[in-house]
Amino acid sequence: MTIAVCNGTHGDDARARTLARRAGAAYLEVEWHRFPDGETGVRVPGPVPARVAVFADLDRPDPKFLPLVFLLDALRDLGAEHVTLVAPYLPYLRQDARFRDGEAITSRTFAAALSPLVDRIVTVDPHLHRYRSLEEIYAAEGVVLSAAETIGRWTGAHVDSPVLIGPDTESRQWVERAAAAADTSFMVLEKKRRGDRDVSIRVGELDMLAGRTPVLVDDIISSGHTMAETVRGLLARGMKSPVCIGVHAVFADGAGRLLADAGAARVVTSNTIAHPSNGIDVFGLLADALRA
Ligand code: R5P
Repeated sequence: MTIAVCNGTHGDDARARTLARRAGAAYLEVEWHRFPDGETGVRVPGPVPARVAVFADLDRPDPKFLPLVFLLDALRDLGAEHVTLVAPYLPYLRQDARFRDGEAITSRTFAAALSPLVDRIVTVDPHLHRYRSLEEIYAAEGVVLSAAETIGRWTGAHVDSPVLIGPDTESRQWVERAAAAADTSFMVLEKKRRGDRDVSIRVGELDMLAGRTPVLVDDIISSGHTMAETVRGLLARGMKSPVCIGVHAVFADGAGRLLADAGAARVVTSNTIAHPSNGIDVFGLLADALRA
């Protein structure tokens, strides 16, 4: 049975159309309306097929979430039997514990709100740290794709004599696979986070890096402090200026400047989130998952 792709947020639909084209799927038009009072209207003018994939860019998710809920619910109401959410970046997963007394564990709340509306979620490198799988908090089937091999191949093709470096233990899962695909070695550093924009990185033994190009690989570049601190730590120890690679280009205000000022040679990201630093294409992975 074929699947139709539509745009799940009321923004630009170019990326949803690209996914439909690359998956060989039909594109299902969605009309969005903003009422004068600020509320959102959504309409699917054509017939709704049995299987639908909703593409949603969910970085900076809060204003996008309610329109997405309206569309997902409407699709079922209009006859969809199986709804797939394609969210290349799945937000809120970093809030996976009560870090301070009284804090909400919003990863669970977000998952509980989304789960009844979708049968399947396709995403790339979700931040699974304390959760081992999406199914721990989502009631829908989780299809977890990884950009790690694509990052490794990109590194092998574009960086001279690379050594891959994960800035913290969570990054091991990406850096290890990327290094295997680049046919090179890797190391994982230690990070301490004290606040949103306050991290320190312990750079230990660096013999492995002599004469090589450090390539930092992390899942998310948000404030940029994790990468920037690592860049500064390596440069202070006389290493070559590092290449920084992130799967998800969240880039909070000032993150790009911070990385440039820290001394990164180059910053490259995958296109799970549209950003000028995108250089690694993962839409092929998403399209393959939809075709499968
Ligand atoms: C942490 O758990 C993640 O893997 C990233 O290291 C983190 O999200 C990066 O955030 P920031 O750019 O704000 O340091």
